[in-house]
Amino acid sequence: MAAAGKERSRVLVIGGTGYIGRHIVAASAREGHPTAVLVRDPAPADPAKAAVLQGFRDSGATLVKGDLYEHESLVKAIKSADVVISAVGYAQLADQTHIISAIKEAGNVKRFLPSEYGNDVDRTHAVDPAKSVYAKKVSIRRAIEAEGIPYTYVSSNFFAGRFLPNLAQPGVKDLPTDKVIILGDGNVKGIFVTEEDVGTYTIKAVDDPRTLNKILYLRPASNILSHNELVSLWEKKVHKTFERVYIPEDEVLKKIKESPAPINVVLSISHCVWVKGDHTNFEIEPSFGVEATELYPDVKYTTVDEYLNRLL
Ligand SMILES: NC(=O)c1ccc[n+]([C@@H]2O[C@H](COP(=O)([O-])OP(=O)(O)OC[C@H]3O[C@@H](n4cnc5c(N)ncnc54)[C@H](OP(=O)(O)O)[C@@H]3O)[C@@H](O)[C@H]2O)c1
Repeated sequence: MAAAGKERSRVLVIGGTGYIGRHIVAASAREGHPTAVLVRDPAPADPAKAAVLQGFRDSGATLVKGDLYEHESLVKAIKSADVVISAVGYAQLADQTHIISAIKEAGNVKRFLPSEYGNDVDRTHAVDPAKSVYAKKVSIRRAIEAEGIPYTYVSSNFFAGRFLPNLAQPGVKDLPTDKVIILGDGNVKGIFVTEEDVGTYTIKAVDDPRTLNKILYLRPASNILSHNELVSLWEKKVHKTFERVYIPEDEVLKKIKESPAPINVVLSISHCVWVKGDHTNFEIEPSFGVEATELYPDVKYTTVDEYLNRLL
């Protein structure tokens, strides 16, 4: 663990400009890690992208030019780091084999965190298309273990910012006005974690011997709610009640098959969480996992209740 006065590991983030990656970069710099971000273009024409990179520089992070598909650039960047964190998106998940090869060649990496940040993909009941996405993450896990690379897999469950602004209704854009869509009976528990907290817990783990070769589960007690509980919480805040439209599993499965991408992806993820219970239907055994709020009780995480107040 990075105790006070102890040197913080040098962190390299690949995919640091992405949706979750930027929160990991911010946390790494905030926690005092020498932080590098692998970027394909350090001087992008797009002002929004340029502003993100300037934000990184302002926080003390260094930009390193490189690409997942340029082996030499990866090896060079990795050689200057102790910890490699990947936050690449869906399209690059399988290609993280390139990072694994570069880590092997560099030979100095103390910890690798592949792009995960969701369900525990080894304990899932997902149907396609989510099933195939999770299978890519599984194959990266097995490749890391086969190569003997020290790892931590971060299972952060639902990103609050992705799932709370529509009250976790798959395929619906906004908060409910009259009806609310619920998959299954609404009594199965799911877990929400803000993107900022995902960044914080991820970075807390990188120097911690307790998370070595383990899955780090983010299960903040106040953020474990059934869909019915979530709807009730919102109803109390807006002083309204909504008509709850329950969709039974066979209908959910039919909808998944009939819906175009990306709605079918969101539906299949929601199915395995709200119908199958994949966030909460297993105990964390010490042989494979640890829980973040138990390891880092000092982190004041954002509760679902607080997050919903922002939406009022
Ligand atoms: N739990 C949840 O609710 C939830 C929600 C969404 C995602 N996730 C998970 O979070 C992880 C990251 O997803 P995301 O949506 O944050 O990703 P994202 O926004 O799509 O970001 C992808 C990142 O990969 C970079 N990248 C793309 N091609 C690259 C290349 N050839 N070389 C180097 N970098 C490259 C991108 O750089 P540029 O900026 O240059 O394009 C960007 O920084 C995934 O594992 C995903 O499954 C979880």
